[in-house]
Order: sequence, then C-alpha cells, then structure tokens
Amino acid sequence: MVDSTRTLPDAWWRDAVIYQVYPRSWADSDGDGIGDLPGITSRLEHLAELGVDAVWMSPFYTSPQNDAGYDVADYRDIDPLFGTLADFDALVERAHALELRVIVDLVPNHSSSEHEWFKAALAAEPGSRERARYLFRDGRGDGGELPPNNWQSNFGGSAWTRTQNPDGTPGQWYLHLFDPTQPDFDWNNPEVQEEFRSILRFWLDRGVDGFRIDVAHGLHKEPGLPDAPSDYDIATQATSLQPMWDKPEVHEVYRDWRRLVDEYRVEGEDADRILVAEAWVIPEESLAKYVRPDELHQSFNFGYLMTPWKAKHQRESITNALAATAAVGAPQTWVLSNHDVPRHASRLAIDIDQPTRVLGIGPDHPQPDSELGLRRARAATAVMLALPGSAYLYQGEELGLPEATTLPDEVRQDPTFVRTNGEDVGRDGCRVPVPWHADQPAFGFNTTGESWLPQPEVYGDLAPNRQEGVAGSTLELYKRLLTVRRKLGLGRGELHWQELGEDVLAFTNVTTGGRRLQVITNFGSDPVDLPHGELVAVSGTLDEHRLPTDTTAWIIPG
Ligand code: GLC
Ligand code: MG
Repeated sequence: MVDSTRTLPDAWWRDAVIYQVYPRSWADSDGDGIGDLPGITSRLEHLAELGVDAVWMSPFYTSPQNDAGYDVADYRDIDPLFGTLADFDALVERAHALELRVIVDLVPNHSSSEHEWFKAALAAEPGSRERARYLFRDGRGDGGELPPNNWQSNFGGSAWTRTQNPDGTPGQWYLHLFDPTQPDFDWNNPEVQEEFRSILRFWLDRGVDGFRIDVAHGLHKEPGLPDAPSDYDIATQATSLQPMWDKPEVHEVYRDWRRLVDEYRVEGEDADRILVAEAWVIPEESLAKYVRPDELHQSFNFGYLMTPWKAKHQRESITNALAATAAVGAPQTWVLSNHDVPRHASRLAIDIDQPTRVLGIGPDHPQPDSELGLRRARAATAVMLALPGSAYLYQGEELGLPEATTLPDEVRQDPTFVRTNGEDVGRDGCRVPVPWHADQPAFGFNTTGESWLPQPEVYGDLAPNRQEGVAGSTLELYKRLLTVRRKLGLGRGELHWQELGEDVLAFTNVTTGGRRLQVITNFGSDPVDLPHGELVAVSGTLDEHRLPTDTTAWIIPG
C-alpha cells in the first residue's frame, strides 16, 4: 500500500478547477424536462473548452427524488430518470478522453426512506439489528408522544418522525436531520461503516476520480443524543457545540476512507482519487481538521462564499482561510456558488453584513439589481481564480446566470419551502435548467421545450451561443481567467498582500516559477489608478485606464 503522506507535492487536485453539474438541470437528452447522464456526456466538450480539470456531479442514484436525489434508495445504481450504469460508464469514458476527471457525490449521513435497509427497519422490532442501522429511539412523555429530543431538521420542523407499529399503534421515533424521507444512519454501527467502504469501492472500480461527501460533518452525533442548547449562536459559536455536528468521531471515518482511496493510487502517477467534504463548520481551525494529511483532500470554504462584498472582509476571510489550511499542509478550496445557495450573480447584489445562513430569494423579497450583481460576481470570480488552491464552479456561473427569484410557489420542489411554510423559499432558484442556445426549445436544454422548473427569459440572452466569441461576455471572461490561471500556475502560487487603500483589495500571486500576477479589485465608488504592467484580464470595462467600482484586474507587473 502507498503511504498517504507521500502524495505527490504537485498532485492534480491541489490547484484543480472543478465544475459542478447538477444532473437534472444541465442537459436533457430524452426531452422529459429533466437532465440526464447521456445529456451530460453530450455536453462535456463545453467543459474541456472552458478549461476546467474535473466535473463533480450531484447525485444520480436510484431515488424517490424527495430531495432531488440526496435521498438515495440504492447507492449502486442509476435512477432511470438519469439513465443506466452503461450511460455512466460512457460518461466516464468520454470525460477521461477529454482529460476531465470525474467526481461523484456520496451521501453517507442518511439514506432514502425507500432504501431496503430502512424498509426492513420499519418492519422490524425495536432493538432489532435492522433498526440498529438507523437512529430509532423511544419518545419522551408518558406514552412516548414527544420526540426524543429538541433537534430541528435543517429543512424546518422537528428532526424526529414517529413510526407506526404493524397494528396501527404509534411506535418509536427515528432521526432525520433533513427531510422525514431521509433517515440518518447510526455511524457507530460497523455494518454501516462496512457498507460505505463497499460503496466507495464500487464507484472507484468503475473509474471515478473522487467523491464529494455530503453533510460530512454530521455522520456522528453526540452520544446519548442530548438536547441542543437553546441559546446557541450560529454566527459566532463553534459548530461542534451543537450535539449533531462536527463530532471528533467523524475524523475516524475519514482516516479510514483515506486509507481506502489511497489503495487506488499508482506510485509516481498523478492519479490520486480524492475526497472533498461538504462541512458547514466554524471556526476555520475545526474545518481544517478535515484536511489533515491522513484525512480528506479538500473541504469547501463556505466561510468565503458567505463573506460580505467589502475589501476588509474579503481580505480577512482569505487570510484566515489560507492560514488555517496551511497549518495542516493542505491547499484551500474556494467556492462562490453551488446548488444550495443563491447564485452569486444575484447574491452579491444584496448587501448583508455577515450572513450566517444563505436563504433563498423569492418574489416577495427586494429583487437583486442584476447589473450590479453580475458586475460583482465577475469581479469576485476574478479574485477567486487568482487565489492559491483549488476552486469549484457551479454550472451556469460561467454564463453569468442570475438566480431565478420569481418562481411561483406551485412549481417549487425543494422540501425547505414546504417545511418552513414558505418562510425560506428554498433552493430551486439556483437549480433551474441552464441555457445552451437562445433560439431553441428550453434554450437548448432539450428539443421538446420541457423543463422541470421554468427558465427565466433572460437565460436565453445568456446562452453560450450568444456569448461565444463575444468580447467582454462572461463566458469569454471565464475562459480567459482559466487560461491565464493555468498558464501561470496561479493555483500553486503564494499570495502577498499589497496596500492600495481601504476600498481596494490588492495582492500579488507569486508562482512557483517566480512569475508574478497582480490582482486588484476596487470596492470603492471612485475609479482607482492601475499599476504599470500588462493588463492580462479585467472583469469589466476600464474607465479611461482606471479601474472602476466592483471590478477586478489581472496585471503582469512591467
Ligand atoms: C447537502 C446537499 C443538499 C442536501 C442535503 C441533504 O447539504 O448539498 O442539497 O439537501 O445535504 O442531503
Ligand atoms: Mg431527461
């Protein structure tokens, strides 16, 4: 076996740009209005041309789709909505031919209530081996009529649902940190641990290059499942102070998995299979524990995603994040958008001091200024892609797509919407099918015009066929940034801050080859002078050689 600490110092993932595809919304080959695997395969060239290194796909496994596939009924098969295992193999083959690595989503915290194990658990007695794979408990109160503790579901409401006995009388309760159709596994159970080892191997043997681990900080709960503190402040207090998140035992799981994926390494080849955590954890030092040398490779930096659009906050956030991962020898993993948060082309138009949770934007909210949002989004991306480390892009952000903020209630599908009684409109607004061609049905998403969520009109104007080769388009900007990033090796560089005024974020990325790129973002209202040198990219339009507000420039000092 290969020693994991001897991973190549320049392994591919340390500076990779990874593009997230949300399968139901990227490309629909059979015209049923839901994207699918053959659709993805047919569009992979877009990613090769864009210049990313890998594609990560959200779940496509067998699922009743109560949480858009994050409720898995069979971890070793493809849902017929998305295709077959043969379609998956064809996708991997095509991706690899285009030199794109493939990362799949693994959902280990919970299964679907349609999973064979959960159905067996419901049919079995309390205390049985079947129930021991999940978290069944007796209720509180005389007749067990109260939930076992006060935990709330992430989608709203209690995190417990009561079962019914075969004779119709009320029975035990089971825990679900998300939807009631997503029962949590008991990760202390060796059977659960062994099952996931086997699932990892199943996909590794099919040739995947890595896994994004859903809810990576939730697998182990505080023993005894005590009540959550009522005065907990999510903005400032350590995530681990809550009994369901960031428990020390999760790290044992990841050490185990790291040994497993490392068995697939080939000495001397740049072919690491990687593990990336979705862990909403503060402080940074706790998050960094997930990427210690013998654990996971990457962990999304959601603190960065939530950082207010202000020079001071951005600088602080980047500095702290780099320090935290450097302390454990890992690269940072930057991200601005994904399938759970409003797209940054809309989110950044809303001035929030320090958001702690990113809620959806609905028709009743103040509508984001789309011009302002896009300008800031482009400037933000130009910062992110110049930072050392790895970066994740979310489908459609390279087109500058805004959040769909005016979806009518009746089309919404995210369980968050229903479970919070509409208080949080949920995440459908960032999940709308993407456009490919302005003048085709469903903007080229398919040939029938069907679409599981309605597409905003503006998505047509932003279709790739309207942006390709158009100077100044968002698509061409992304291509330019990715080309320069790759050519200079920015992902492996070192960041040095510069002082250019309170409203200016300025740093130099010094690459391993000793090349320098100066990156400047103007957060103030007045244009600022650009330093001398060659302007290699700019996120907007210069104002007589000066850098206007909400704009980022890349300069090779002259
Ligand atoms: C993660 C996913 C999200 C899903 C949840 C439950 O946060 O990103 O989409 O709803 O886990 O699986
Ligand atoms: Mg389809």
